[in-house]
Amino acid sequence: MTERRLLPQPWRKLLLALHMVGGVGWMGLDVGLLALVLTGLTTESGNIAVAIYTALGIIVPPSVITLSLLMLLTGLAQGLWTKWGLLQYWWVAVKLVLGLILIALVFFVLIPAVEGLPERAPDMPDGGGAAVRAALGNAPVQLLFPPVVSFLSLAFALVLGIYKPWGKIRGS
Ligand code: HEM
Repeated sequence: MTERRLLPQPWRKLLLALHMVGGVGWMGLDVGLLALVLTGLTTESGNIAVAIYTALGIIVPPSVITLSLLMLLTGLAQGLWTKWGLLQYWWVAVKLVLGLILIALVFFVLIPAVEGLPERAPDMPDGGGAAVRAALGNAPVQLLFPPVVSFLSLAFALVLGIYKPWGKIRGS
């Protein structure tokens, strides 16, 4: 069996740094998004509600897509070109599955939920926050789950990355 070519140390460290920027950066973004979503769900001010849903529609697509793909692509590259492999150790394999599920949730749940939010938010929010939320349908409540689910999943992946539990996958 041919030996897998491994990344020289300086490149491996650069990849790991980018990997952390992607994963931990996404966690930081989730905290900010959750603060916006919770305020949007509770504010009585129509102007604040419109500002929040407009901001979510603008911030979420570019930032979540960039950080999530950075995390995934650096994770795949590390799996392919470091001693760990992608499906040799449980801690990497579990992170891979988690990462793929999170990316699917981004493209099939989160992005569709924020798409068009700025256009759908009413111009003259004279009915207060409740009227703005009513105009946006399920989106204000739906947007509660992505930041919570991805923050907890990323935190779990972070712990796996540091402790590397469960050893090698049998037969790998
Ligand atoms: C698609 C999913 C992912 C894959 C395939 C993956 C793969 C890998 C691989 C192969 C390494 C070893 C790199 C090396 O030793 O040079 C690694 C390291 C690490 N990963 Fe991931 N990862 C993924 C997602 C994540 C996420 C979401 C986080 C958390 C935010 C994370 C946190 C870490 C940490 C902390 C390390 C450093 C381990 C160390 O050097 O001690 N990973 N990852």
